[in-house]
Amino acid sequence: MRAPASELPIEFDDVTVTAGPVTILDRVALTLASGAPTVLIGPNGSGKSTLLRVAMGLLAPSRGRITWGGLENVPPLKRAIVFQRPAMLRRSAAANIRFALRAAGISRSEHARRTSELLELVGLGHLADRAARKLSGGEQQRLALARALARDPAVLFLDEPTASLDPTATKAVEDIIRAVSQRNIKVVMATHDLGEARRLAGDVVMLHRGCIVETGAAASLFDTPQTAEARTFLAGELLV
Ligand SMILES: Nc1ncnc2c1ncn2[C@@H]1O[C@H](COP(=O)(O)OP(=O)(O)O)[C@@H](O)[C@H]1O
Ligand SMILES: [Mg+2]
Repeated sequence: MRAPASELPIEFDDVTVTAGPVTILDRVALTLASGAPTVLIGPNGSGKSTLLRVAMGLLAPSRGRITWGGLENVPPLKRAIVFQRPAMLRRSAAANIRFALRAAGISRSEHARRTSELLELVGLGHLADRAARKLSGGEQQRLALARALARDPAVLFLDEPTASLDPTATKAVEDIIRAVSQRNIKVVMATHDLGEARRLAGDVVMLHRGCIVETGAAASLFDTPQTAEARTFLAGELLV
C-alpha cells in the first residue's frame, strides 16, 4: 500500500463552492501532501465535509481548481472516503468487503485473502459472518474503514469517523487510523473533537464559515494559535 505519484499532492487553488446564493467554501487554497494525517477542524457548518467531498472529487468547485499530483480530472481509483454515517449492505461483514473488492476491480481469486486481511486489520476477523447491520456502531465504523481500504487507496478521507462512538470504540478506530497512516496512506479527516485532532494530526486545517482561518503543524497550531478564531475555538468557546 503505497501512494502512487499521481494522487499527491492534492492542491486546492482558490476553490470556491457555492449552492445557490450560499458560499460553502470560500477561496480555499490548500496543499495536502504525503505524511502524517491532516485533520480538518472547525465548528458545525464550517465546510469540513464539503472540503472532503471536493478533495475526493465528488463535488466540483464552482470557481477555482483542484489538482491531484498536478493533474485535473484524475479518476478516484486511488482515493477512498468514509462518510459520517456509512451505510452497510444488508449482508455479512465479509460480504460487504467482497462487494468493495469487486467494485474496485480486484480479481476474484484474491477476494478471500484480501477479505480476511482487511477484517483482521480492523479487528473484525471473528465477526466475518455477522450481518453488517447487526454490528455495533464502532464495529460498523471499522467495517466501513476496511471497505474503504479494499481499493488500496493512496489517500483516505474520513468524515468524523468517531462521531457518536464511546471512548473504547473511538480508541479502536483511532488505532486503525494510525495503522493506516503508518502504511503510508495519506489520511485526511474531519473532526469536531479537538482531543482527537491532537491525538492524530500531523497538521491541522481550521475552517470557519467556509474559509481557512489557520493551518499548520498540529503542535504549533494547538500551542500558539495565530488567529482570534482559532484561539476562541481551541479554548472551547463557541465560535459563531
Ligand atoms: N448542497 C447544499 N446546499 C446548500 N447548503 C449546503 C449544501 N451542502 C452544505 N451546505 C451548507 O454548507 C455549510 C457547510 O457544510 P458542511 O461542509 O457540511 O460543514 P461541516 O462538515 O463543517 O459541518 C453548512 O452551512 C451547510 O448547511
Ligand atoms: Mg460535516
